[in-house]
Amino acid sequence: MITIPSANDMENLGARVARLLRAGDVVCLTGELGAGKTTFSRGLGRELAVRGTVTSPTFVVARTHPRADGVPFVHVDAYRLVNASELADLDIDWDRSISVVEWGRGMLEAVVDEWLEIAIDRSHSADDETRTATLHAVGPRGNELVAALGRGVSA
Ligand SMILES: Nc1ncnc2c1ncn2[C@@H]1O[C@H](COP(=O)(O)OP(=O)(O)O)[C@@H](O)[C@H]1O
Ligand SMILES: [Mg+2]
Repeated sequence: MITIPSANDMENLGARVARLLRAGDVVCLTGELGAGKTTFSRGLGRELAVRGTVTSPTFVVARTHPRADGVPFVHVDAYRLVNASELADLDIDWDRSISVVEWGRGMLEAVVDEWLEIAIDRSHSADDETRTATLHAVGPRGNELVAALGRGVSA
């Protein structure tokens, strides 16, 4: 579990994860509205030097950010999707992208086999901005990413 005191720290966590990612990698973000999923994605996108501003894709569902160097960054918000087949219908080229899927839990298994899941929780006291992030691995690549992040956390 990782403690994230501020929004800036959340962006930095996104950047830290970004440095581990390669084509085909998928990050699934869970956590209630306002938890910090898009804030994390913004830090990740910045580290990947993506074109365009990373904002919530809630209404467009998926936004592709090209990069001068490397595969595109695909940012999905699955909140408004009714089921996993709608996620499949987006025809995202998962293998040739680096992807972050907000609200992807329970849907991603329809489109990919392995991913890193980050569950973000917020404190329930109103004056506390601290978030906690819990890592879960799905599949061998998920395990690799969790292990790499764990090493970073203890360093
Ligand atoms: N520790 C923190 N981590 C992430 N966001 C934080 C934190 N503290 C305050 N915030 C604020 O909470 C909001 C999170 O919103 P957002 O990232 O859009 O959440 P989500 O995408 O999960 O709905 C932002 O306004 C952000 O500045
Ligand atoms: Mg969001």
